[in-house]
Amino acid sequence: MTLTIDSDRLTREIEHLAHISDTPYPSVTRVLFSPVDVRARAWLKTLYAEAGLLVREDSVGNTFVRWAGTDPTAAPVGTGSHTDAIPNAGRFDGVVGVLGGLEAIRALQRSGRRPRRSIDLVMFTAEEPTRFGFGCLGSRVMAGTLAKWQLEKLRDPQGLTLDEARAQAGCTGTIESARLPRDCYHAFVELHIEQGPLLEREGLPIGVVTAIAAPASIRFELTGEGGHAGTVLMPDRHDPSLAAAEVMLAIERAALATGSRDTVATCGLVQVQPGAINSIPRHVKLEVDVRDIDGARRDGVLAAIKSAAHEAATRRGCGFSEQLINSDPPATCAPVIVAAVEKACAELRLPSRRMISRAYHDSLFMAQICPTAMVFIPCQGGYSHRPDEYSSPQEIAQGVAVLARTLEQLAM
Ligand code: GLV
Ligand code: MN
Ligand code: MN
Repeated sequence: MTLTIDSDRLTREIEHLAHISDTPYPSVTRVLFSPVDVRARAWLKTLYAEAGLLVREDSVGNTFVRWAGTDPTAAPVGTGSHTDAIPNAGRFDGVVGVLGGLEAIRALQRSGRRPRRSIDLVMFTAEEPTRFGFGCLGSRVMAGTLAKWQLEKLRDPQGLTLDEARAQAGCTGTIESARLPRDCYHAFVELHIEQGPLLEREGLPIGVVTAIAAPASIRFELTGEGGHAGTVLMPDRHDPSLAAAEVMLAIERAALATGSRDTVATCGLVQVQPGAINSIPRHVKLEVDVRDIDGARRDGVLAAIKSAAHEAATRRGCGFSEQLINSDPPATCAPVIVAAVEKACAELRLPSRRMISRAYHDSLFMAQICPTAMVFIPCQGGYSHRPDEYSSPQEIAQGVAVLARTLEQLAM
């Protein structure tokens, strides 16, 4: 069956969405339930309605857009991604999976055949951790990986709870009601930009994801003795920033020590207080992100970092506390979906390679409740989370074509 992708329309829609942002184009900032996020959601609903799709929103704002199949008793097939964007991000991360997923459904509609299984386009709430400090909030809630106490503890930078924020955005019902039963989807497949350089470097249009690396993150608070930068002599100091410096180097050492390029560790947040040039720091907060495709090895790195942090703080006479923010297992993609994606690539004569996703995605959590896989397309220079993130209309259309053919195989 021929499927035609309306690349011009999709490009116009991606560009339109990019302008619903808190920062000027091509920079995109769209934080969960901010006025621009609410506007973007409303505009997207006009597109869903134009395509004659049924929309359901859950209690945390995950949106399910259904093209009903002929067999209402068959478990649906899902696709989708996110449209929230970290501050000063680009216009393709997540968006390609939502608007591209919509175009895949429209292409299938245009082909004139109705699938047996319904196809759901899912727009996940807050894949990005910007507002509540947790990535993949919507898919975590769907998969039931967060306990009630964890959800109740969440606060945004203004001190608002998730309940308050979602009520302001018009979401009703208990948070738990957003949980989905196991195998609620026959299959889930997410289209996304690679966010890394491999496909571009190898001149390949499609990456078939076989596994998603396991992310963990931890917060350290180091408390020492502040004071006057001129008058407190060096032997008398308990400077937590020096303990923090040791921790940062230990992070790099621990990641390198595994000898695997799949292990990565980053200290992306360092907050020093009081933060004045002539003041010895009193308090330092560090947030550390550790990932690996091997969950046990990742945990070993985490343990080595924790022990180095404890040792440096104790030796320097500083107070020390640690808080595990998240520790998620890796995901293995479902072989049947991987095979369906590869078959789609072969039919379209698009070369592909298998690869792992080093970034996390909502698919990491969907994989806990249903068979899941991902399709990657190249992005220029591997850049992502920055305004010059770019995939060409042709690269996006090829990804959408592969997605559409994959959905067709899974749903017919
Ligand atoms: C997702 O944005 C990630 O940090 O992997
Ligand atoms: Mn992102
Ligand atoms: Mn993303």
